Amino acid sequence: MHYSTQKMAHALAEGLIAEGVDVAVYFLHTDERSEIVKDILDSKLVLFGVPTMHNEPFPSIGDIVCYLRGLRFDKTGQKKLAVTFGSMGWRGGGTKKLADAISACGFEVLQDLEAYYVPSENELVEYFEVGKQLAARIATEARSKTSIV
Ligand SMILES: Cc1cc2nc3c(=O)[nH]c(=O)nc-3n(C[C@H](O)[C@H](O)[C@H](O)COP(=O)(O)O)c2cc1C
Repeated sequence: MHYSTQKMAHALAEGLIAEGVDVAVYFLHTDERSEIVKDILDSKLVLFGVPTMHNEPFPSIGDIVCYLRGLRFDKTGQKKLAVTFGSMGWRGGGTKKLADAISACGFEVLQDLEAYYVPSENELVEYFEVGKQLAARIATEARSKTSIV
């Protein structure tokens, strides 16, 4: 709505990139679902960003969640890590509901980060640090590619 979630995405991506992680960033308004899912399947860690709208995750993420549910990749025994994040204006909760939906697709959700409206400079520094910590978390994994949606 006001690109606050996108600001969080960029700060997280910069933290991961600063530690040498290969990061692909997608924007659901412009990027093609099949391209996004191809990178998700290739990624060890996926960060899903949504603002809260009407107490729910912003609806366009439903497209990806529906596709991931259909792929049933959790049945392959592959373990994927995830983080949900996003901006909210009052009670929030969209990221938590998204975390539940993503867990049902077989992801292990490590964190759920919510910002109140436009994240401050200090908060963006915190998200940058979170990105660096996530890089350390996946450093031991064989495939460390990361996608942000
Ligand atoms: C139509 C509409 C519905 C919203 N519903 C909620 C809501 O239920 N709970 C909440 O915490 N914030 C709600 N918000 C506030 C947004 O989550 C908030 O403005 C957020 O910063 C938008 O993030 P973005 O800039 O990444 O789009 C709503 C905003 C709009 C425009």
